[in-house]
Amino acid sequence: MRIIAIGDVVGSNGTEYALKLIRKIRNAEKGDLVIVNAENASPGNGLDTKSAEALLGSGADVITGGNHTLRRHEVFDFLDENSNTVRPLNLPPSAPGKGFTIIRACEGLRVMVMNVLGQVFMDPADNPFTAADRLLAEQEGNYDLCICDIHAEATSEKAAFARYFDGRIQVIFGTHTHVQTADERILPKGSGFITDLGMCGPVESILGTKPEPVIKNFVTRVHDRFEAGEGEIKLCGAVFEIDTAKKCVKSVKRIKY
Ligand SMILES: [Fe+2]
Repeated sequence: MRIIAIGDVVGSNGTEYALKLIRKIRNAEKGDLVIVNAENASPGNGLDTKSAEALLGSGADVITGGNHTLRRHEVFDFLDENSNTVRPLNLPPSAPGKGFTIIRACEGLRVMVMNVLGQVFMDPADNPFTAADRLLAEQEGNYDLCICDIHAEATSEKAAFARYFDGRIQVIFGTHTHVQTADERILPKGSGFITDLGMCGPVESILGTKPEPVIKNFVTRVHDRFEAGEGEIKLCGAVFEIDTAKKCVKSVKRIKY
């Protein structure tokens, strides 16, 4: 089974580019399942219903989220009604939507996709380790393979999470920093891991936004409105090949389009 994971889709430019490319990448990489982090796919930031529907209609199977998923109230009903768009698991239980989904993929396998938030340099959230442990125990017997998007700032937290769940969550990828890391690998117990997938957004930007207001903020502490970056867009992600019989990853490859 081949899983394609695409990093944070940023703003309307990034979303338009992802919409054009997802099906092509799916075909080129022979993907059985495509997971897209789209917590900032809306113009501005956050996730809106229109962008989520468009991404799911263009070849993405599951959308994962992060610290900005619940920024727009209009998406709350969509999250409650569409199980294939998941928000972080370790938010308060009253938050709209769900932190995981179980989807049928090739050979009818039941693939659980979960999304957790990190705690280091992030807004408060429950412990992602214990939240994921709890979910694995609760759903035991309901899934064959598991995938997790850990949306976090600190590389140490993502690496520790991956090692802790090595062999129990087959595919673990990080999102949130918008910068692709070059550490994709197979862990000792067979899980595939990359610290961050990178983003689908403008190259000449600061994490997807126009540089000037960001620089001004750092230099003067005056906060101007951030706007979406422009120019050439790049889509970053990774492809994980899973040996479904052995429940381990055979290869991890970074992609950039
Ligand atoms: Fe984020």
